[in-house]
Amino acid sequence: MQKITFMNFKGGVGKTTSVCTMAELLGLAGYHVLIIDLDPQSNTSRMFGIKDDIEELNYEHLFCHKMYSKKSMQEFIVQTNYTNVHMLPSSEEMCDVIYKIYDGTKETANDKNDRIELRFAKNIKLIEEDYDYIFIDTSPFKTYLSYCAILTSDKVVTPISLDNFSYEGVLKLANLIIELNANFKRNAEFMGVFFTKIKSKTSNLFTGMSGSYQEQLGDLFIPIAIRDLIAVAEANTAFQPLYTYNKKCPALNDYIELLNYMDLIDNRHYKKLKNLLVTKKGGDK
Ligand SMILES: Nc1ncnc2c1ncn2[C@@H]1O[C@H](COP(=O)(O)OP(=O)(O)OP(=O)(O)O)[C@@H](O)[C@H]1O
Ligand SMILES: [Mg+2]
Repeated sequence: MQKITFMNFKGGVGKTTSVCTMAELLGLAGYHVLIIDLDPQSNTSRMFGIKDDIEELNYEHLFCHKMYSKKSMQEFIVQTNYTNVHMLPSSEEMCDVIYKIYDGTKETANDKNDRIELRFAKNIKLIEEDYDYIFIDTSPFKTYLSYCAILTSDKVVTPISLDNFSYEGVLKLANLIIELNANFKRNAEFMGVFFTKIKSKTSNLFTGMSGSYQEQLGDLFIPIAIRDLIAVAEANTAFQPLYTYNKKCPALNDYIELLNYMDLIDNRHYKKLKNLLVTKKGGDK
């Protein structure tokens, strides 16, 4: 079981698209996946067919209190219509929860074993063994929910786009992870960055820039880029995960290569996913 957060404090870089596409593919491959949507915008929840808040749920409990039973955690989880994908949906209530966590930080600051920032991570532990992967989607704003995401995760990965890439931004995120690990005795690993929305992998602009980023970032540069394709944008507008929307979209192949590079699928599942792709003649869409 691995818990992976997709995070970048820049908006529109492909966090949600990556979480949804990779979760859908892993589910189709046969892995059990839980997506946690920590972005109050709820795009990820909507992509998997969850439109409204589940009214009877109390998100303050989820983030600010210790849960004692697996059953109480399972109440927050929805089985989606997509193979092997479960969802802990976002809620408007999460905006208020951010302030509640903040209040709690003052009350629990000196209680080393029970700091409020760790309660969500501890609650997730109650259900994590039901899954092979837990993916956490986050908002572009740095809030206490971002801290909860990092403190819950084994790994953090950062989608980036060419038009607003910032080396300083990546370093800041890497430092935030180091700082939280030290303060809370955790071991979240920063896996690094990968490019999304690349118009052409062979253009001089892209090869030149990725070469220089690779030099700057070393191992933190993941050399798999996701193509910019209209079908991906259309899938997002139609609120459907990419494979369901268009089985022929070549970006699916990019995401399979990324899953493989990140070591999230073994060879058998890699081949299974490759066989699920429908290749087509003609131009990319
Ligand atoms: N590979 C792609 N090809 C074409 N369009 C893409 C691709 N990936 C993402 N997009 C589009 O870019 C926009 C931003 O993508 P997405 O919502 O995944 O980013 P995000 O980082 O989650 O944004 P936010 O920070 O607002 O949560 C969306 O309109 C989406 O359709
Ligand atoms: Mg998003």
